Amino acid sequence: MSDKLDIIIFGVTGYTGLRTIPYLTNVINQYNLSLSWGVAGRSEVKIKKMLKEFGQSKGVNYDNVPIIIADINDENSLKNMTSQARIVLNATGPYYLYGEQVVKACLASGTHHVDLSGESLYTEKMQLLYHEEAKSKGIYIISACGLDSIPVDMGIVFLKNNFQGTLNSVETYTYLETESSTKEPLLNVGTYNSVIYALANFFQTESQRKKLFHTELPTTEPKICTKLIHKSDLINKWCTLQPDPDAAVARRSQHFFYDLYNERPIQVNCYLGLNSFWYLLKAMFLGFWIIIFSQFNRTRNLLFKYPSSFSNGLFTHEGPSEERQEGTVVNVKLRGKGWWGMSQNTVALIDSAPNKEIIAKVSGRNPGYGLSCATFAISAITILTESDKMPSTGGVYPPGVAFAQTTMIEKLHLNGVKFELISKN
Ligand SMILES: NC(=O)c1ccc[n+]([C@@H]2O[C@H](COP(=O)([O-])OP(=O)(O)OC[C@H]3O[C@@H](n4cnc5c(N)ncnc54)[C@H](OP(=O)(O)O)[C@@H]3O)[C@@H](O)[C@H]2O)c1
Repeated sequence: MSDKLDIIIFGVTGYTGLRTIPYLTNVINQYNLSLSWGVAGRSEVKIKKMLKEFGQSKGVNYDNVPIIIADINDENSLKNMTSQARIVLNATGPYYLYGEQVVKACLASGTHHVDLSGESLYTEKMQLLYHEEAKSKGIYIISACGLDSIPVDMGIVFLKNNFQGTLNSVETYTYLETESSTKEPLLNVGTYNSVIYALANFFQTESQRKKLFHTELPTTEPKICTKLIHKSDLINKWCTLQPDPDAAVARRSQHFFYDLYNERPIQVNCYLGLNSFWYLLKAMFLGFWIIIFSQFNRTRNLLFKYPSSFSNGLFTHEGPSEERQEGTVVNVKLRGKGWWGMSQNTVALIDSAPNKEIIAKVSGRNPGYGLSCATFAISAITILTESDKMPSTGGVYPPGVAFAQTTMIEKLHLNGVKFELISKN
């Protein structure tokens, strides 16, 4: 018997890391799994205090949870941490600053790794630099295991599994439903900081992307129409194009599906839906200034200093109240178009207009710290329990590719992340 833990949550003093604990233990109990787990971070005092308070609020005693001390700036401490687990759930962001060090330590100690990154520069860099090494060592490095981008990437897998034909294109529409009319913040500043770094590195991400795959995707027709702004008949909301991170993750998955299984790549566009044209204009106006400010050091520091002002109250240092979290539902509606009766392996051109449509919905409560913590915990457990259904023997994959053949959707559904087929015609 090894005295290694099965699972370590690194960054447990963070807003998301801490809230992942009950989701992890729920799934372990639900499936009767004998998986041991512990937590890690850079301050023992802080970890103990937070575990105590969080445990008391949930009526659970976390006094005996193993604690490992590791600091991003101390390589040996990271290796010491990763060598004590079979998988690390890495919740220390921004990943642009802290992610690669943990991945390297995992590769050195033969430990699987999942994270919540929505930062394409980081996730794609990990694939570019470490895919072959992870493959040769039998280690899975899976990023984007939160709201970004499990609902979209696994949602497309769900559409494909239910389609019985060839999908040519998928449009996804993400929108929120709030049960209260409160204007309280919805997300913690950790995610906001990560978004700023992602925007600051937009051009670097574009140039890095060109090196990511050695093969070129075949051109598929008809081309999906890309709309910067439109009123969607599917969700009855005003929508704007959202190129990153969901669309980038989904396109990376399509590239892998083509390379690994010779599947016809599905064209994907992702949109964000807002309640009125006025909200859409406001969001685009704020987004424009955040993009401009994120490009220069001085103005970027202003963004970091005043998250609430620049995000119209969406993000704060204190994080959202429990009531606000639980009162918010995120929905992703997906509409796929294609043809009857052929398989997804038909790469050849089909010279007729798509004649079949499928609509599905993925939804979950508390997008940042409910749905994301569930998808994060279930990603790790799926790697430990179903690696025989994952591609190859290891590698750096987007979640849709990593988990397509596993029972992840079933597990998510049981844990509040609903996958529903709305219609097929
Ligand atoms: N895309 C999604 O769906 C989604 C959802 C939720 C979260 N996220 C991402 O998850 C990440 C965490 O978000 P959050 O809101 O939980 O952030 P947070 O509350 O700021 O937590 C950050 C964590 O990183 C740790 N950390 C920072 N510097 C460290 C160092 N040098 N050594 C060791 N640990 C260090 C912090 O430890 P200390 O307490 O010691 O400072 C803390 O535990 C962000 O990148 C965010 O974007 C993504």
